Order: sequence, then C-alpha cells, then structure tokens
Amino acid sequence: MFIESFKVESPNVKYSETEIHSVYNYETTELVHEKRDGTYQWVVKPKTVKYEFKTDTVVPKLGVMLVGWGGNNGCTLTGGVIANREGISWATKDKIQRANYFGSLTQASSIRVGSYNGEEIYAPFKSLLPMVNPDEVVFGGWDISDMNLADAMARAKVFDIDLQKQLRPYMEHIVPLPGIYDPDFIAANQGSRANNAIKGTKKEQMQQIIKDIREFKEANKVDKVVVLWTANTERYSNVIVGLNDTMESLLASLDRNESEISPSTLYAIACILENVPFINGSPQNTFVPGVIDLAIHRNSLIGGDDFKSGQTKMKSVLVDFLVGAGIKPTSIVSYNHLGNNDGMNLSAPQTFRSKEISKSNVVDDMVASNGILFEPGEHPDHVVVIKYVPYVGDSKRAMDEYTSEIFMGGKNTIVLHNTCEDSLLAAPIILDLVLLAELSTRIQLKAEEEGKFHSFHPVATILSYLTKAPLVPPGTPVVNALAKQRAMLENILRACVGLAPENNMILEYK
Ligand code: NAI
Repeated sequence: MFIESFKVESPNVKYSETEIHSVYNYETTELVHEKRDGTYQWVVKPKTVKYEFKTDTVVPKLGVMLVGWGGNNGCTLTGGVIANREGISWATKDKIQRANYFGSLTQASSIRVGSYNGEEIYAPFKSLLPMVNPDEVVFGGWDISDMNLADAMARAKVFDIDLQKQLRPYMEHIVPLPGIYDPDFIAANQGSRANNAIKGTKKEQMQQIIKDIREFKEANKVDKVVVLWTANTERYSNVIVGLNDTMESLLASLDRNESEISPSTLYAIACILENVPFINGSPQNTFVPGVIDLAIHRNSLIGGDDFKSGQTKMKSVLVDFLVGAGIKPTSIVSYNHLGNNDGMNLSAPQTFRSKEISKSNVVDDMVASNGILFEPGEHPDHVVVIKYVPYVGDSKRAMDEYTSEIFMGGKNTIVLHNTCEDSLLAAPIILDLVLLAELSTRIQLKAEEEGKFHSFHPVATILSYLTKAPLVPPGTPVVNALAKQRAMLENILRACVGLAPENNMILEYK
C-alpha cells in the first residue's frame, strides 16, 4: 500500500513550527587489531553513539543556476520542469503523455515506512523531510552560446515535437548569461558555439559570476541559490604545488591570472566565496586541492563529480551483485557511442581522458570488499571506449560485456545493450542534486561528545548516489555501490526524523 505522508511520534522527536529535532542512536562498531595470546587478532566492539539532528523545516524559494544552461541537459531539465509546472501533456504516436519526474530519486521513488495488517506500507521519498517542490524552482544560468532555450531545445532533439511546440513560448525569451570561455580547456570543435563569453582577466571573470548570482537572486526574489555545472567536460587541470594545491596558492594564482585555472574552477571559487552550493556534473577535476581547501575553510558546500546516469549506474549495481554473490568479475568492457554535442566534445583526447578516469574507478570498492575472490591489488580488466556518431544524436548507446569466473573454473559472460536519450537520464539527476544539496544545508547534527551543532562536512558525500566519481573529504572511504549509496542517503534522512535505518529484517513475521 502507498501512503502520501506520515508523521513520526516518538519521545526522541520534537516537531516545532520551524524545526524537527531528533535524538538518534547510531549503532556502529569499533575495530581493534591487537596482540592476544601471542597472535594479532581483530576484535569488533559494537558501540552506540548518540546523535542529535536539527532540520530547518522552512522550505526556501530556490533559484538554480546552471553552467551550460543552453546544452542538452540544461534545456531538457528546464523544459521538463516547465512542463510539470504547467501540467502540459502532448501527443506521441503511442498515447497522450503527461509530464512527470520519472528518474528522480526524490520525486519518483518511495521508501518503506513499515507494515500494517500484514502489508508493506510505502511513502514517497520526498515525504521524509520537507523539500523544495521542483515546480517552484526558478532557473537561470550561463552559456558560452547565446542561443535561446527554445532553439537550444530544438537543437537538442530530445523532446517530442508536440511537446517542443507547447514549450516554445515559455523558453524562446530565455537567453543564458555570458559564460567563462577558455578554449584551452574544452575541445577545439566547441569554438564555433562560443559567441557569448565574459571578457577580462580570470579574477574579473570570477567576480562577474559573483555579480550574476547576486543579481539573479535579487531579480527573482529567491532565498537561496544552488549552482550546478552541466557544461562541456573540460580537460584535467594540472595540479601543481604553489599553483592550486592550497587555498592560498589558488587565490594568489588568481591574482596573477595564471592560465591553468579552468573555467569550472573559476565558477566554483565564485560560489564558495558567495557561500552558494556548487555541484560539478562533469568528470574534470574542477575541485583541485586548493578549491577543496577553500570550501572547507568557508564551510561552503561542494559536490561532484560527473552525473551517474546510465552505464555507470548499471555497473555499480551489477558488479555489486556479482561480488556480493561470490562471483568474480574478471573483465569489464564498456563501449559507448553518442552523437550529441557532449559526444563531439569527448572526441578530443584530453576531454575523453577526463571521462575515462571518472568511469574507471567505479568498481574499486566492490572489488576491495571481497578478499576471497581478489588478491590484494588485483583488479578486473576494465576498459572504456567512447565514440562520436552524429546520427544517433542524444540517444546514447552503451554496450557492456562482463566476464566472470564462476564455480569450478567456469566462465560467465553477461552482455548489456542500453539505449536511451542521455539528457532524459541526466535531467532528473540534476534535479535531485540541487534539491538534496539545498536540503542538506538545512540539517545540523552533533554527536554526544561534540559541544555544538554543525552542518555536514562541506564536501557533500550525501550526494554520492547521484555521481559517478563521488568527491569525498580527504581520508574518507569512497562508496560506489549504488544500493549502499541509496541506503546511506535514505537512512540519514530517516535519522533526521528519528526513524531507525531500514534493516530489512522484518522480524515481526519471523
Ligand atoms: P552539451 O554539450 O549539450 O551542453 C553543454 C553546454 O555547455 C553547451 O551549451 C556549451 O555551450 C556550454 N558551455 C561549455 N563551456 C561552458 C562554460 N565554460 N561556461 C558556460 N557554458 C559552457 O552537453 P550535455 O549533453 O548537456 O552534457 C553536459 C555535461 O554533462 C557534459 O560534460 C557531460 O559529460 C556531462 N554528463 C552528462 C550525462 C548525461 O547523461 N547526459 C551523464 C554524465 C555527465
């Protein structure tokens, strides 16, 4: 059965006009590796840490500024939200289709709240805590192309034509703000689109972004802004001591107009200085150590990298399943071809390299979790190929071959072929990223030994379900397995309302 909403009644949870306060017992373990009776032994000690969570329940009016607004993802998301807000439906050759948010964890998935009369009861994911309603988000942003969003939507060839016709009046007057363009960081084949660039030195460009954010906030009367990079994949920046390795060196490099500071890093610096959450949806290393340092210093949320939309999402499910089942994946080969502008940009070796790196490490945690299958340091062969095929447009093809060793030396080969519009996968993920980033800035927590409440670490690991190469604070484990990432997010939100983590034991019926 599905219910729309619920309220938790518990001595551990207090609801006030503007806040939910919960007391939560975090059941964890402490590991000890010590010599006992002459040999080293692992000892696991269960421990309970008392946490308190405070969630501000006043939902702000949210502005979202996209870098690369006129790209396929930018105009698909904007058009999709307008269609939902306006209740648009359109004729396809199959049926009358209504706007929806399928593919969004927050808007279209559910959580289990318990059992009632022998039936499992589910509620919308978004009913856990008050979240911004996507229909009410105000969009803005930048693009190095000055094409209006209606023409950009037509160029993207993602939406059905009847939907495009209905959206055109809402989008034809929207023109992105000029963006920061540096041809050294994206493929040369993007040059012909770049007719809308901010002039000046790197520092002046960064300051213009701050000015744009302030003016957008003022003009639209929004309470909060989140900025998200969905622009072209850049090449990696060189990380160099004295250039971008610390906050001080990065800011000094900015003063010196150093050429190795990428456009995406400039947007990130502007957002951090303005205390606006910044999320990177592409694979490049926008978050050079100096940026992470600056974000930590100013306690300003950063999250990334690279949307986890199709092939990698499947990979982080399938390999988790194989390794979890005691089967040994030995070779993973992924081919992609796509024909949109992203594919064209990735046809240059330097930008492809960023994507290759981002897609490469996604099985490491699962492989490392099973020492029965894998020797220390052993990895499956893992190869990623991406080719640009203009004809298929945004309809990306992903073909994967997984070869595994099974019982008694047998081999098993699984082949997947995945076809769908890339932007229709990415747009709901962008929505989740901005809604969850906003929500996480309203949560404060404190462990029992801590004196006062604090926000989550500015490097937002809570968003890792949505990213291919989760950015984590130095010294923090990276989790790629999709089910674990989802459970982490869901269980943290449950803790905020005093609910135990979902443990799937269903002891009531045992
Ligand atoms: P796109 O090429 O259609 O759009 C990118 C837009 O960014 C273009 O309109 C371009 O003019 C603009 N742009 C480039 N540099 C800019 C800058 N410095 N400032 C402002 N605007 C700039 O690409 P698409 O398909 O929308 O993808 C966007 C990004 O998302 C790509 O980097 C892609 O790798 C990444 N991504 C997409 C996924 C998907 O499923 N669609 C999945 C994972 C990542």
